[in-house]
Amino acid sequence: MRDVAIIGAGITQFGEHWERSFRDIGIEAGMKAIADADLSGSEVDGMFIGNMSSGRFINQHHIGALIADYSGMATNHVPATRVEAGEASGGIAFRQGVMAVASGMHDIVVVGGAEKMTDVDDPTSNEIMDTTSDTQWESSLGVTFASLHAMIAKRSIHDGVFTREEMASMSVLDHAHGALNPNAQFRKAINLDTVLRSGPVAEPIGLFDCSPISDGAAAVVLCPLEEAKKHTDSYVKVSAVTQASDTLALFQREDITRFCATTAAANKAYRLAGISSSDIDVAEVHDNYTVSGILALQDLGLFERGKAGKAVLEGQANIGGKVAVNTSGGLKARGHPIGATGVAQIVEVVQQLRGAADKRQVAGARYGLAQNVGGTGSAVTVSILEAI
Ligand code: COA
Repeated sequence: MRDVAIIGAGITQFGEHWERSFRDIGIEAGMKAIADADLSGSEVDGMFIGNMSSGRFINQHHIGALIADYSGMATNHVPATRVEAGEASGGIAFRQGVMAVASGMHDIVVVGGAEKMTDVDDPTSNEIMDTTSDTQWESSLGVTFASLHAMIAKRSIHDGVFTREEMASMSVLDHAHGALNPNAQFRKAINLDTVLRSGPVAEPIGLFDCSPISDGAAAVVLCPLEEAKKHTDSYVKVSAVTQASDTLALFQREDITRFCATTAAANKAYRLAGISSSDIDVAEVHDNYTVSGILALQDLGLFERGKAGKAVLEGQANIGGKVAVNTSGGLKARGHPIGATGVAQIVEVVQQLRGAADKRQVAGARYGLAQNVGGTGSAVTVSILEAI
């Protein structure tokens, strides 16, 4: 197996892009990443695209062919593969791309993630997202994605894993960092009161505990580590990228206050990278709801169980704290165009490790981690990147 490097990264503005199409934003991110890697499109020999539900959001399947065509790669017959794994589509597309280069099957691979969610109304968008839970035993019986996370939050608060205020502090953290990110959907710092007083969505989850509905795309370019220097001085090593599964339905879990797939993927990733959780300087975690963010910090071992919420409330996860979490603004403030999210997390970690994150730069960042989650923790990827 070959070591793999990221030599280019690109991202669009996240938000509600009424005036733009899926193909526009997908191509923008891919072209930015290719230009960043100082490559011409003809050097690319493989593409993987994370996308959750273009069939329902924009009535278009066959996304690999669409992106290959509109990026000009179809004329060179570059293989393009769409990867679907619910909200983990981007993270798993990244893993597929890394494996393709590591195995020697491909030399220059573009991994993209894209989703255009606002072409349907919000109830339809939520109905589509609900299909990443167990449709037969959860959503068809009336359980929504927000209410599943509300159950996790209620149980966690009941068991003393964190308090309501500590959970809300995840949103304050994300908005503080999102305010520094020009590509974020929401760029306004907020306080705890804003979260606690926001309208109820599924009690105890309120509006400001939820990630928004978003459009956006992100992309990275991969090549063998030993070839990276030929293309750029500003590359990042992929030290590990792991994936783990858990039950699709939440009710089948013994303990709903932890995502065991996150811990399984993280432990393996630390082992492969030869580091421990305390070495991580920056982390992008999958906080589709504030509850998921706090649980992720514990399940990844970045903070002790029962202490992550307090740590976030005290500012230990802010830039300059023990570990800088969601410097992009996270899913809550940067936005969550589902298939793009896992790749957007990688783009943020790359910018941090290159020292190119401007106002949100974490000084001396060496190791960065990204955790991407599908469903209620049923598919998880953990990637560890290292500055060279
Ligand atoms: N956080 C903060 N503000 C939000 C927001 C969010 N998550 N979602 C929408 N808003 C704001 C909008 O910017 C808008 O503000 P404005 O009036 O100043 O322009 C206002 O709220 C109304 O926007 P609208 O789009 O009508 O909101 P909505 O009530 O239809 O949708 C939610 C709100 C919470 C239902 C929607 O964001 C949602 O479904 N989020 C969850 C998505 C999800 O489950 N993702 C996880 C998948 S893994």
